Amino acid sequence: MTVINWKERLLPYEQVVEELKIKFKGIQKEYKNLQIHSPIESVEGRVKSIASILEKADKKNIPIEHVFDKIEDIAGVRIICRFVEDIEKVVSLIYQRDGEDLTIIEEEDYIKNTKKSGYRSYHITISYPIMTIEGRKDIKGEIQIRTLAMNFWATIEHSLRYKYNGNIPEELKERLHVCAEAAFKLDNEMTTIRDELLEAQKIVNLKNNLVNEILENLQNLYYIAKIEKVTQFNREFINLYNEGNIDKLFDFNRQLEVMTNLYKVRYN
Ligand code: GTP
Ligand code: MG
Repeated sequence: MTVINWKERLLPYEQVVEELKIKFKGIQKEYKNLQIHSPIESVEGRVKSIASILEKADKKNIPIEHVFDKIEDIAGVRIICRFVEDIEKVVSLIYQRDGEDLTIIEEEDYIKNTKKSGYRSYHITISYPIMTIEGRKDIKGEIQIRTLAMNFWATIEHSLRYKYNGNIPEELKERLHVCAEAAFKLDNEMTTIRDELLEAQKIVNLKNNLVNEILENLQNLYYIAKIEKVTQFNREFINLYNEGNIDKLFDFNRQLEVMTNLYKVRYN
């Protein structure tokens, strides 16, 4: 009988999960920094428990010595998105890394091909290299990408599956199908809101950039214009800012630019 040192064998998988989590959270931060909608809402990860590994091996008739090469989701990372469209974006971001810091082995699109249970999600199986004290080790892992609605459904269904030992009663299965349908509709409805959200974000960014420009121009005026003049402009800016009319702020900024140029000419 093969004796497995589980702690030692699972260590690289923990490393993979941690590294991937950091990387996907890094992407999220980049979007946040750019003040644009992040296709990644949140990132979760886990190493499959020994009990689940043994259970899966038993179900799939995998000999114990082969669990590490045959079971591909021992390292699992889940990326949650707000909108269905975000999933495509995340998938393309992962493809961008193919051959760089990870290798894509397989993908399964359970969004186009909804499972019989009602399950929807996008799966990508990868091989991920980690550096250990013995050198490079290539570890397999599964990335699941799904919306908040898909995740909500899958989490509930998973708990029920667990409760009923994999044999969910027919009546409950039907109700789960109704819920899956509702989650699907929710995702579609949210898509219509997505455009509104992106539009709103654009306006916020536009305003932020404009305000930055105005502040920079006011700062420059301090060096070249009379202090009373700048103070007057400052007051005007605060009033306009509170009023919140972006067109007026644009006009004001243009006025500041003209003024700055005028003073520059005189100054030179
Ligand atoms: P399994 O993990 O045994 O299903 O092997 P597989 O890779 O051949 O199957 P699949 O790609 O369908 O599933 C991989 C993972 O997706 C599972 O471990 C679950 O996390 C998730 N999954 C797949 N189908 C379902 C489902 O019907 N309900 C839920 N809640 N999750 C599912
Ligand atoms: Mg799979």
